[in-house]
Amino acid sequence: MKGLILSGGKGTRLRPLTFTQAKQLVPVANKPVLFYGIEALVGAGIRDIGIIVGDTKAEIREAVGDGRRWGDDVRVSYIDQPEPLGLAHAVLIAEEFLAGEPFVMYLGDNILKSGIVSLVDSFRKRKPNALILLTPVPNPRMFGVAELENGKVVRLVEKPQEPKSNLALVGVYMFDSHIFEAAKAIKPSRRNELEITDAIQFLVDSGYEVQPHLVSGWWKDTGKIEDILEANRLILETISGAVLGAVDDASRISGEVIIEKGVSVRSSTIRGPAIIGAGTEIADSYIGPFTSIQKNCRIIQTEIEHSIVLEGSEIVDVGSRIDESLIGREVRIYKCPPKPLAYRFMVGDKSEIGLK
Ligand code: G1P
Repeated sequence: MKGLILSGGKGTRLRPLTFTQAKQLVPVANKPVLFYGIEALVGAGIRDIGIIVGDTKAEIREAVGDGRRWGDDVRVSYIDQPEPLGLAHAVLIAEEFLAGEPFVMYLGDNILKSGIVSLVDSFRKRKPNALILLTPVPNPRMFGVAELENGKVVRLVEKPQEPKSNLALVGVYMFDSHIFEAAKAIKPSRRNELEITDAIQFLVDSGYEVQPHLVSGWWKDTGKIEDILEANRLILETISGAVLGAVDDASRISGEVIIEKGVSVRSSTIRGPAIIGAGTEIADSYIGPFTSIQKNCRIIQTEIEHSIVLEGSEIVDVGSRIDESLIGREVRIYKCPPKPLAYRFMVGDKSEIGLK
């Protein structure tokens, strides 16, 4: 079986971060979201992985490389999607790479806690034409939605106005080669995309077997800031602490905290779960639970929790607590001089700032 990861798209809901970074490379617990998908495929025994890339291909190629870091026999190839014309369009342009083999399609901004090992095994043994993953969600209008009858898939609708169920399509699918026939038969949707949801409906209508599977562990589509923070929380809940950097006697570390090499922690409290990336300096600060700070940051006289700080950022002397924030690369947040009593901003397009 092969793997196909979709890593195109513009990530408009994550601007301004995605003006300068692919949404699939935004880190969750200091690891790019995309790597969780690659690891899920490799964990299920898949060695030949194609990544569909768009405008951000150079960056994705640089971060992922040829795949060998996940094993000597793992190969990653890149497939260009010149325009984001839908998930079924991505399947069509990957037809040559997939070469008639069954495959797992994995959306590069999805994270599934339970991995996909048992699902891939079951697909290999039972050989349905497609296997789809479903999970109940509170806001089905945001997703592809499935209707089941007696355990069988009868209808799939992409982002319905009036959802007939609360079962969302998770962004992991398994197909045999009938999906190409389906993707060629459907027409673009209202948003002018060839929807994978419509292609699967074509399989159902043509009498092919589409097996549904309800996901038991958590699943996150990290397309929005709240989802990234939530995914960060869920992943950090699973880490085991390790202190590889320097922590002075005036500091207190509690709970599961990973402190990487070259980190310096002085006169600070870090309450896990949290991860502090290599080369970061923390002084006179409080780092609260569910916080991921990437490498080479400086956090001085600041309180922060439930947040993600990307590499090279400096937060100095902020005075009140920073909470539920996603702070980009090389950002500077600092206290202004006492007079004039004013805020000073230099903020990029589409940024968001909440003041108390
Ligand atoms: C896509 C699919 C949708 C699915 C979702 C899962 O939506 O079209 O059916 O439920 O991924 O993440 P998108 O994220 O492209 O809006």
